[in-house]
Amino acid sequence: MLGDIDGYGNDFFGFLLEAYHDSDKTKKISVDDLIDECKTFFVGGQETTSSSLTWTVLLLAIHTDWQDKARNEVLELFGQQNPSQDSIAKLKIMTMVINESLRLYSPIVAVTRRVEREIKMGKNNCSR
Ligand code: HEM
Repeated sequence: MLGDIDGYGNDFFGFLLEAYHDSDKTKKISVDDLIDECKTFFVGGQETTSSSLTWTVLLLAIHTDWQDKARNEVLELFGQQNPSQDSIAKLKIMTMVINESLRLYSPIVAVTRRVEREIKMGKNNCSR
């Protein structure tokens, strides 16, 4: 497999598996940690994207003048071709529409964190 250096793969899940199998117990993550990370990745990726796409489509349906501008931009840039990953970055109007949708109806408005235990990062002593 491309990028498969050590058998776990060179993607996010591969890094998690590598951390789970780490022989250094201070670096190793538990199977519960691994499952938690997968859930976070799935829910974080699924809900945010679907919510933001839903609001974007609704806003475009209400503001038909911007819908026309966005459609024209896509047709001018790609015609009947499918957009590629690189060319998507050229969509200026669409980027403005998505940014405005995220500003008005952000899928995440707050992030809470709880500190489970004190840790020391690197060699420096970070305690105040
Ligand atoms: C409109 C789309 C998205 C929005 C608005 C969004 C927003 C956020 C925010 C606000 C955070 C917390 C950042 C912080 O630590 O302060 C976050 C973290 C994260 N997001 Fe997204 N996200 C989006 C899409 C995605 C997608 C598509 C994925 C994965 C496929 C993803 C995976 C993650 C992960 C793994 C974290 C780190 C969670 C952690 O702290 O452990 N997100 N995102």
